[in-house]
Amino acid sequence: MSSYKIIDHEYDVVVLGAGGSGLRAAVGLSEAGLKTACVSKVFPTRSHTSAAQGGISAALGNMGEDDWRWHMYDTVKGADWLGDQDSIEYLCKEAPAAVLELEKYGVPFSRTEDGKIYQRPFGGMTKNYGNETVQRTCAAADRTGHAILHTLYGQALKHNTEFFIEYFALDLIMKDGACKGLIAWNLNDGTIHRFRSHITIIATGGYGKVYYSATSAHTCTGDGNAMVLRAGLPLQDMEFVQFHPTGIYGHGTLISEGVRGEGGYLVNSKGERFMERYAPKAKDLASRDVVSRSIAVEINEGRGIGKEQDHVHLHIDHLDPKVIEERLPGISEASKLFANVDVTKEPIPVVPTVHYNMGGIPTNYKAEVLTVNGSEKTVPGLMAIGEAACVSVHGANRLGSNSLIDLVVFGRAAAKRAAELIKPGMKHDEIDKSETDRCLERFDKLRNSQGSNPTSELRLSMQKTMQSKCAVFRSEKTLKEGVDEIRKPFESMESLSVKDKSLIFNTDLVETLEFDNLIRQAITTMDSAYHRKESRGAHAREDFPKRDDENYMQHTLSWCNGSKTKINYRPVHRSTLTNDVQYFPPQERVY
Ligand code: FUM
Repeated sequence: MSSYKIIDHEYDVVVLGAGGSGLRAAVGLSEAGLKTACVSKVFPTRSHTSAAQGGISAALGNMGEDDWRWHMYDTVKGADWLGDQDSIEYLCKEAPAAVLELEKYGVPFSRTEDGKIYQRPFGGMTKNYGNETVQRTCAAADRTGHAILHTLYGQALKHNTEFFIEYFALDLIMKDGACKGLIAWNLNDGTIHRFRSHITIIATGGYGKVYYSATSAHTCTGDGNAMVLRAGLPLQDMEFVQFHPTGIYGHGTLISEGVRGEGGYLVNSKGERFMERYAPKAKDLASRDVVSRSIAVEINEGRGIGKEQDHVHLHIDHLDPKVIEERLPGISEASKLFANVDVTKEPIPVVPTVHYNMGGIPTNYKAEVLTVNGSEKTVPGLMAIGEAACVSVHGANRLGSNSLIDLVVFGRAAAKRAAELIKPGMKHDEIDKSETDRCLERFDKLRNSQGSNPTSELRLSMQKTMQSKCAVFRSEKTLKEGVDEIRKPFESMESLSVKDKSLIFNTDLVETLEFDNLIRQAITTMDSAYHRKESRGAHAREDFPKRDDENYMQHTLSWCNGSKTKINYRPVHRSTLTNDVQYFPPQERVY
């Protein structure tokens, strides 16, 4: 261990991750005068938020009447009543101010004729409690995440957030149940850094790369989630994995729901607009779980397109090319590049593709991580935001465009809460050397692996198992097989092969650390799915096709130690935060 050069830092707050939520938190923390470090394994503007296309939801009412309560109702229904309604109220009520703040920061939103922020229709977004569609999703063409990310990075620099770029976080530093900071490896010069902080905010995004086909970047490995598991804390609702209905067939790149918002539609091999059968009112703009399942049924029943009958077509060739050029330039380019399709003339081949993790680190609406030991106690010094967190506003299924708003609303909330909890320049506690040793022992063991199994093979085996056993439709049989199979790549780590032993830009070791993070989340996802014997939102069990509110209106909690998991549950919050809105009781969910 002593061979590592350890460099110590002290900050009031350390934010881990420089995507939309991490940067928004960093801006607020720095503005509040807290000495803030932002640690990221990639350059901030390469974070996965840059891939978010269609938009950010907020009931601004720029394109007709809207109300945050309608947004709240849609989100509760979209979540299939697994969301915590206090958090959802907070999200939807704060959303308009959070978007106007982005506008003030300089996000180049698309505009209406009269200069307001342009808003487009999106799946599951309605007015009057499900009765009519609404245009609620604020867009910067189809590059909204990219625009937000670049703007927030500029703001963070302006407010003097200190960045540690291309630092790979290894583990949290815990002491007596509280978080005291984290340890990271500088990929550029091989040094190890110990960040002591009063508050650590995890903003590391989702873990889409546990699957073979995902819209997620290769960097989406849920590193913060795995650090939480290794600290002995649980993750929540991991079985809820969102399949986006329209990933490019064979490649996985996202084709935004904004395409259907602008009038695009899906067809099967018979040329039928099949969504009319599954969601007579909302059709192609039903919620994502519904559209993805409908496509899967079409394919399973032999109405898929192509030699293998394994995808469907998305048409926008009927739209005015000027609209496509102005509002959907990104997907036009992606379709040409990855499917060789000119969208003004031909349909895009698409298939449901893993896109988002509703599950993650359990928090309250102030972004504080919950200990979940039977009460709603928080873990001192630890917060989580964005896709890494399960706050839980998305419950069993997230509505499109509710992710970007989640990032900025809860990034802002975390900064506010941190400024209430700590004062700039407070003295740091002593930390125990054993935490650094524990972390570096794992690092060393992986780095010096001399076995025969390359990381890439184990990762492929994990991804194939997740793709086939924990898919859009699940059953006792596939999940039971999955529970057994998913442990094999974990066990094979006993004979892991890491060829490159260096400490400088060692991508073999980075991928191994990422795999070690991914496999723990794959195991908790599979086990959580196996234990939930109902269908709700994105978790569709063929053997339990109905939602079971009596037994499962509860969040799943999963602890993971090695390949051993413990599963428990905590009740969904059934009350709102204020009297401005009433609790929405469970209903049948139809679109
Ligand atoms: O379809 C999209 O543009 C993705 C948006 C989202 O996931 O919120």
